[in-house]
Amino acid sequence: MGRGLILGIESSCDETAAAVVERGSKTLASVVASQIATHLRYGGVVPELASREHLRAIVPVVRSALVEAEVGLGDLDAIAVTSGPGLAGALLVGITYAKALAFAQGLPLVAVNHLEGHIHAVLLQEREKEALHSARGSGPAQDDDELKRALALVVSGGHTHLYLVKPADRHRIDEDLPPGTSNCGPSDQDFSPRNPRDGTWRYSLIGRTLDDAAGEAYDKVAKLLGLGYPGGPWIDALAQFGDPTAVPFTFAQIKTKAHLGGKAPRTKGAKTAPIAELDPHFLFSFSGIKTAVLRYVELHGLRAEAAARVPQMLAAGRPPKTKEEALELCPQWTLDLIASFQHAVIGDLLRKTFSAAESVDAERILVTGGVAANRELRDRFSAEAGKRGIEVAFPTLALSTDNAAMIAAAAWPRFAAGEFASAELTAEPGMVLGR
Ligand code: KG4
Ligand code: ZN
Repeated sequence: MGRGLILGIESSCDETAAAVVERGSKTLASVVASQIATHLRYGGVVPELASREHLRAIVPVVRSALVEAEVGLGDLDAIAVTSGPGLAGALLVGITYAKALAFAQGLPLVAVNHLEGHIHAVLLQEREKEALHSARGSGPAQDDDELKRALALVVSGGHTHLYLVKPADRHRIDEDLPPGTSNCGPSDQDFSPRNPRDGTWRYSLIGRTLDDAAGEAYDKVAKLLGLGYPGGPWIDALAQFGDPTAVPFTFAQIKTKAHLGGKAPRTKGAKTAPIAELDPHFLFSFSGIKTAVLRYVELHGLRAEAAARVPQMLAAGRPPKTKEEALELCPQWTLDLIASFQHAVIGDLLRKTFSAAESVDAERILVTGGVAANRELRDRFSAEAGKRGIEVAFPTLALSTDNAAMIAAAAWPRFAAGEFASAELTAEPGMVLGR
């Protein structure tokens, strides 16, 4: 094996991304081409446009990642690609490109679940922090946090899922590999508990949304209020200037199996995720609050105000930074509505995540995905963790939203375990993580 360099490729939604990561713990380059400008005027991702934009961007994005990392294709040890979940056409662009490149270079291909990628974004960030720490000689390395039982909240535009995350038992040494193993993967005798970080991981689903993802609710509410796409950063920026107690949004307890006569509630992903087996206390539902905001807007005659905001928002091109800018875009009552919506959503995420963490005896909480970039979420999760004496970790802001460094990082333990994708690899839009 060479330096343990993996080229990660991500194209599951509206970001074309490529990254080069060394041994799952050092990012040499991470390039993200966002399609926000393309989808902005539609207030959401248009799948056909997303595929077209990925086709345009994939070659230059991979090239810039290699240039930025100062490596050539010949230096790579593997190519990793997101194979699902996501938009079929969008996924296929990354997969087809990754397969062709792997074949042409004689490199192994590693398929990564996008959700697993988000979880590894936190682990990658922690490894990088720790490396910096030891390089500065600022004391001994911390405990091996990765060995702790963790509860991960993956909260993004497509997902609101809780997973129990544990390293699996099988580990391998990543040094002193016999020559010639780089292209076919290490054999079983290379496994050893000496380097637990290189082991593969296990994920068990603890909870999930029954309908909309939290990020989807942000995006839909933002669209309804005439704000930009994606809605999260706009609502995040505006909420800090409103009164979070102005509109009392509430979340009802999800019905238990008994109430439903033993049937799982109707849900988009019911075929692929076993909702009926999950504790209803850890199930989410964000379609209700979206409807409640819609009702509020109609009841208070805010439709015209929202429509008039669209050209102003497009001209601004970015979320407001100061209270003056926020008030130019929204009157105080709309800022209060936005703050109340966010406060309720974060409150629901917080209550269920901490109570799930307690119920599975987690030693720490990992919060990841686009919504993990939210400042109120970070503040309230950190404060609650402090109160309860449990650790909480987030990725950097850049690693919270879609990127390819997390894909290359998640691929490392799979690469180390010799789990390679076949030439038949194809997109799996409804791919499930864990059981
Ligand atoms: O992880 P991601 O980039 O893509 C998916 O896998 O879905 O997440 C995108 C989602 C969008 O719904 C976006 O509105 C939301 O993350 N988001 C935020 C923030 N930044 C992005 N939500 C709340 N606050 C933010 N600061
Ligand atoms: Zn994502």
